[in-house]
Amino acid sequence: MLQTPYYLIDKAGLLRNLEKVAYVRDRSGARALLALKCFATWCVFDFMRDYMDGTTSSSLNEVRLGHERFGKETHAYSVAYADYEIDDVISHADKIIFNSISQLERFAGKSAGIVRGLRLNPQVSSSSFDLADPARPFSRLGEWDPAKVEKVMDRISGFMIHNNCENSDFSLFDRMLGDIETRFGDLLKQAEWVSLGGGIHFTGENYPLDLFADRLKAFSQKYGVQVYLEPGEAAITNSTTLETTVLDTLFNGKNLAVVDASIEAHMLDLLIYRESAKVEPDAGDHAYMICGKSCLAGDIFGEFRFPEKLRTGDRVSIQDAAGYTMVKKNWFNGVKMPAIAVKDLDGSITSVREFTYRDYEQSLS
Ligand SMILES: Cc1ncc(COP(=O)(O)O)c(C=O)c1O
Repeated sequence: MLQTPYYLIDKAGLLRNLEKVAYVRDRSGARALLALKCFATWCVFDFMRDYMDGTTSSSLNEVRLGHERFGKETHAYSVAYADYEIDDVISHADKIIFNSISQLERFAGKSAGIVRGLRLNPQVSSSSFDLADPARPFSRLGEWDPAKVEKVMDRISGFMIHNNCENSDFSLFDRMLGDIETRFGDLLKQAEWVSLGGGIHFTGENYPLDLFADRLKAFSQKYGVQVYLEPGEAAITNSTTLETTVLDTLFNGKNLAVVDASIEAHMLDLLIYRESAKVEPDAGDHAYMICGKSCLAGDIFGEFRFPEKLRTGDRVSIQDAAGYTMVKKNWFNGVKMPAIAVKDLDGSITSVREFTYRDYEQSLS
């Protein structure tokens, strides 16, 4: 038995997603790049590599990790590159996508030898969170004026458009792609490749994969472009749990159970977006608020039902803990950092990384 807390990546869960990714890729001709901002736990890249075409990134560190640990095709993108990192970025990338015309122009000389693209902002998105909405008012994410983009077409051969966000509705995707075509159609005709970004939950249950793949293929044929997808969440959804142990139980008007992990430190996105964690099956006669062990008053995973009373030493598995978790974990309160373990297809579990006091100490100076 491994000591909790640990993230447990289940390869069988990954495979369910990866097979769908590969299916869409085969049927549509689109290429699929893993978005490292969502999931960068490279111990499973060997396993993922056969189903995907490479990685996309949001920083120098990510593009380097993608190049060194995943291989295949590596896209570089960043909201803004600094002068001191651009050469390094280019040395690790197959394509560089600039966020703005001014960045493209600033680095025109240095990037002359690499395939270049530009991020477009269609000013329409599927996001219900202002915080995560690339099309929010005054957004800095991409160029939106076709007339301005037209003037730099001699410097770029493609575009990246990321405007989906947790979108599990194919007809909404389809409609928004239609909006993109209306707005940027003349530019798309001049492009050789178009990345449609991430945020499309096509590996979810009942998503119409064939319609999706056929829409991508039709888009690709209409404009004569190689389509890319940048799945983050879709590639790893429901593959991982955060395994925790109950350290204490209290009754303060509600039953509380404190576990040996922290939502603030280990599943930060849930806190940022004010969402509850998931526990399964979440059924039974005993309701508990599952609380983290940091000092933050609101360090609460959520309220769930259990078949039995919880006791110190019981295991609580927090579901769906792969996306935007390990990439955001932090040392708040010095809480013990969850180890990373992998469950193989044969059911065997191996711990691949443990974090120690030295890691905590070395994260500061
Ligand atoms: C440019 C870009 N590509 C891909 C992704 C991955 O999105 P998701 O994890 O929702 O699939 C994001 C997420 O913010 C993004 O900004």
